[in-house]
Amino acid sequence: MHTSSIATVAALAIGATAAPWNRHFGWGGWNGWGFNGGSGMCMNDAQANVVANNFKATIAAYTNATASAVLTSDVQDFSDSVIELIDGGCPSSAAAGGPAPYIPLGSATFASLAAFEAGQGGQPNITFNILNVWHNCDTVTLRWRGPMPNPGPFPPPPTVQEQVTGIIVLETTFVSWSAPQPFLINTIYSEFNSGAWLYDLGIFNPQGCGTASKRSLGARAVPAGMVVRS
Ligand SMILES: *[C@@H]1O[C@H](CO)[C@@H](O)[C@H](O)[C@H]1NC(C)=O
Ligand SMILES: *[C@@H]1O[C@H](CO)[C@@H](O)[C@H](O)[C@H]1NC(C)=O
Repeated sequence: MHTSSIATVAALAIGATAAPWNRHFGWGGWNGWGFNGGSGMCMNDAQANVVANNFKATIAAYTNATASAVLTSDVQDFSDSVIELIDGGCPSSAAAGGPAPYIPLGSATFASLAAFEAGQGGQPNITFNILNVWHNCDTVTLRWRGPMPNPGPFPPPPTVQEQVTGIIVLETTFVSWSAPQPFLINTIYSEFNSGAWLYDLGIFNPQGCGTASKRSLGARAVPAGMVVRS
């Protein structure tokens, strides 16, 4: 096992031209041939769960104090799914470019802590469940599901909401083991089922539900590898 780990370390070192050596290996050196020691600068399982739940708190129990405690001041958030919600599903080619301030798909959703606070602070808290957490030394990936993305009362949610499932990758910056949060989130990559969320918000009104013809029409618009044949 050590032989293959050394090969992996070498491959990482060669490939990671953009990442400084000490980002992964740090003062403590390589962390015991794995990612679970919680020494060096590698997070262990418990610390990864803290990072995942820190992010959850910024969505489910938001305060500016929480955001500034768990995010770096230059945090960046990338999510076309969130931008789709902010833009109300409107394309950039729409007459007025969608609701103001229209954000183009592909841009940073929030490019700083202040922008995150200004954007998230105005949102209702959304509860969701963390389904899985994976991590390496400095990056946490989680899978989540929210049963009721529209907490209401405005806009009024449908009687039965479509659940929303998503995946988030959180890159972190190591601070120190004695810091209140040893790992601060510095970059967020988040995508989820914004179609279901737009339905729950009443912005997207699907047509012809339950009719075979519409379904096959819709299937034709789906990439070939994703079509489920019935
Ligand atoms: C969200 O939850 C936090 C923590 O419970 C609370 O302080 C805040 O007021 C809530 N925000 C809204 C919009 O209800
Ligand atoms: C949270 O921070 C944002 C951005 O600095 C600010 O606009 C907002 O007023 C703050 N909210 C509270 C409740 O302090």
